[in-house]
Amino acid sequence: MKKIIIAIDGFSSCGKSTMAKSLARNIGYLYFDSGAMYRAVALYCMQNGLINNKIINTETLRSKMKDIHITFEADPETKNSLTFLNGVNVEHEIRTLEVSQVVSQVAALDFVRSEMIAQQREMGEKKGIVMDGRDIGTTVFPDAEMKIFVTASAQVRAQRRYDELTARGDSADFQEILENVLQRDHIDQTREVSPLKQAEDALLLDNSNLTREEQMEWLIEKFNNITK
Ligand code: DC
Repeated sequence: MKKIIIAIDGFSSCGKSTMAKSLARNIGYLYFDSGAMYRAVALYCMQNGLINNKIINTETLRSKMKDIHITFEADPETKNSLTFLNGVNVEHEIRTLEVSQVVSQVAALDFVRSEMIAQQREMGEKKGIVMDGRDIGTTVFPDAEMKIFVTASAQVRAQRRYDELTARGDSADFQEILENVLQRDHIDQTREVSPLKQAEDALLLDNSNLTREEQMEWLIEKFNNITK
């Protein structure tokens, strides 16, 4: 069977990563979380005093880009992909609300994007990958054989993020999360470099009212049609 690239783009907190991960597992592909890379850069900024009052020291960050190395490794037990920043496992830290509140700004910087996009293209060289993000089907892999654009209502998405944080034992405030979701949508859609938008040849998936099983059935059917 021919190997393809599957690009999954969409709004924040649509369950893209969960969906992309289980799709990859089902079809024996590698999964890459491009959002985790921007989150790791945001965490680097926080750890190194490059963000104060939500203002990024862009000139210092630009000069430090060559010192930021992001890699993925499979968890030996769960087989889930873990994000490493300069060799340190940061999978937990990059998912906090503090990182979520600054990551869109970091991801809007052109020099950050060009570096991440170059690394993402390398990850796709051998095909057989599922990558999720905001610009995977439009900018990173415009020739991807299968493109999905995922959406869900802002309320549903905020509820999912809330459930995710509370399930991990983190404190969470629904209203604050909803505001963060709406603010990130705005920044992601209106930024100058690689704004979030549906590629013309992407299949639209609104999962507000779909179970995970229904969603997976839909994806596998599309995948089988494309690769047969
Ligand atoms: O999917 P996520 O919430 O982990 O993404 C984190 C942030 O990174 C989000 O605000 C948008 C940005 N992002 C991006 O600009 N391009 C991508 N390919 C992936 C994520």
